[in-house]
Amino acid sequence: MTDIVVHPLEGKLAGSVPVPSDKSIGHRALLFASLCEGVSNIRGFSYGEDNVSTANAMRAMGALVEDVAPGKLRVTGTGLYGLKAPAVDLDCGNSGTTMRLLTGLLSAQTFRSKLVGDASLTRRPMLRVAGPLRSRGAIIEGAPHPTKPAEVLPPLVIGPLPDGTYLKELAYESPVSSAQVKSAILLSGLFAHGATTFKEPTLSRDHTERMLHAMGVPLRTVGTMLQLDPAGWNGKMPAFDIEIPGDVSAAAFLLVAAQITPGSRVTVRGVGVNPTRTGLLEIARHMGAGLDIVPQGDQGGEPIAEITAWQQGMRGINVGGEVVPRAIDEIPIACALAARAAGTTTIRDAEELRVKESDRIATMATVLRAFGVTCEELPDGLVIQGREGPLTAAEVESRGDHRIAMTAAVLALVASGPTTIRDCDCIATSFPRFIGTLRALGARIDTA
Ligand code: S3P
Repeated sequence: MTDIVVHPLEGKLAGSVPVPSDKSIGHRALLFASLCEGVSNIRGFSYGEDNVSTANAMRAMGALVEDVAPGKLRVTGTGLYGLKAPAVDLDCGNSGTTMRLLTGLLSAQTFRSKLVGDASLTRRPMLRVAGPLRSRGAIIEGAPHPTKPAEVLPPLVIGPLPDGTYLKELAYESPVSSAQVKSAILLSGLFAHGATTFKEPTLSRDHTERMLHAMGVPLRTVGTMLQLDPAGWNGKMPAFDIEIPGDVSAAAFLLVAAQITPGSRVTVRGVGVNPTRTGLLEIARHMGAGLDIVPQGDQGGEPIAEITAWQQGMRGINVGGEVVPRAIDEIPIACALAARAAGTTTIRDAEELRVKESDRIATMATVLRAFGVTCEELPDGLVIQGREGPLTAAEVESRGDHRIAMTAAVLALVASGPTTIRDCDCIATSFPRFIGTLRALGARIDTA
C-alpha cells in the first residue's frame, strides 16, 4: 500500500468508530511495566509500529512482553535494576519517543547500548536529551550533524556507566516544551544519586508524571516545574493494569474530516482528553467547527470522552502560545481546518514542527499549495488563506510522515477529483487502520 488514491467524498461521512490506543501512553506503559516488579497487564494496545518498536526494545533488555490476546499484553518486568545488556542494536524505527525516552533510561545503565532508527529518525536532533543527560554524567555519543557542530544525530551509542558510578543530580530548564525531553530526564532521574529538577516554558503532555505518581515514585509537580528526589525511596515500582485510552491525535483526523465535509457527522469513542493533549479541539472550537465532547470518566489515570464532530461555518483565527505544545502533533490537521475556514489563519510558535518526522512547516506548505490553497511559510508557522469550493485534485508526497499522509487524505475528500498520495506505508506507525476507518465512515479510497 505505498500509494493511495482518495476520491472526492460523494455524500457524507457518518458513523461512530473507535480509534487506536494512545501512542504516547502506550510507550510509557510498556517502558514502566518493564521496569516494575511483577506482572502488568496492558489492554487496548493497538500495535502501531512506534509502540511495537518500544516493546521490542524492552524485550531485548530482558522484559517479557507477551501477546496474550488481541490488544492484550502481559509484561513481566525486570525490576528497576534488572535490565540486561541487549545483544542487538535497539531499533527505534520511526519513533522519536522510543529513542529519546530510551536514551534517558539507558544513560543510567552499566552496560553499553546502541539506538538506531529509520532515515527520518536519523535526521532528528538528539542533543536536546544528550546535552542535559551528559551534564549529569551520562556517556552518549552520536553522529555529527551536517551543519550544526554541537548537534547529535542517531545512531546513539550510550554508556556504559562505570561500575560503582551513578548519574548525579540535575537542575535543568529546557528551552523547548517537550514531553520527550522531560520524560527522558525523569527516567534517568529514577536511577540518579541526587534530585532531578526540570522546568519547561509551558506544560507539555504529562503522561509520564501521571504514571510515576500512580506508581508511588517521589515526584513533586508545581505548574511546569518538576522535582524527582529518589532519596529515601525503595526503588520499587509495583506492577499495574492499564487500559489505554483512545488516541486523540488519531481521532483528530476523523473529527476534522467530518468538520470539513458537508452533512457529515462522526463520533469517536473512548478518546483520551488529557488537557495537555486537547489543543486541536480548542482550536477547532475557536474556529467555530461543530464539536461536542461528552466526558466518560477516567481510564488508565486519564480523562476520556466521546467526541462528535460535524461541519458548520468556520472562520480563520490566530494560533500561538501555550496551546501549541498541547496541539503539537495536530498542527498539520489544523492546517486542513484553516484551508476550509473563511479568511486567514496564522499559526506561530510552532518551530518544533521543523524537527518532527518531516519538516512539517515546509511539508504542509507544499501539500496545501498542491491542493490550490494559498499559504505562506513562516520560520515558526504558516499563514493560510481559507478556500471555498472544491480544492484542486492533487498529487502529494507524504515524505514518509504519517501525519502528513493522513492530513492529505482528509483534504482530498473535498478536492475536485481523485488525489494520489505517495508513500503511505508510514500511516502504520500510528494509525494502522486509518484507511479502513475512513472507508467505514463513507470515503472511497483505492490502495495499490
Ligand atoms: C511525544 C511528545 C511530542 C510529540 C510526539 C510524542 C511523547 O514530542 O510530538 O509525537 O510521547 O512524549 P515533543 O515532546 O518532543 O514535542
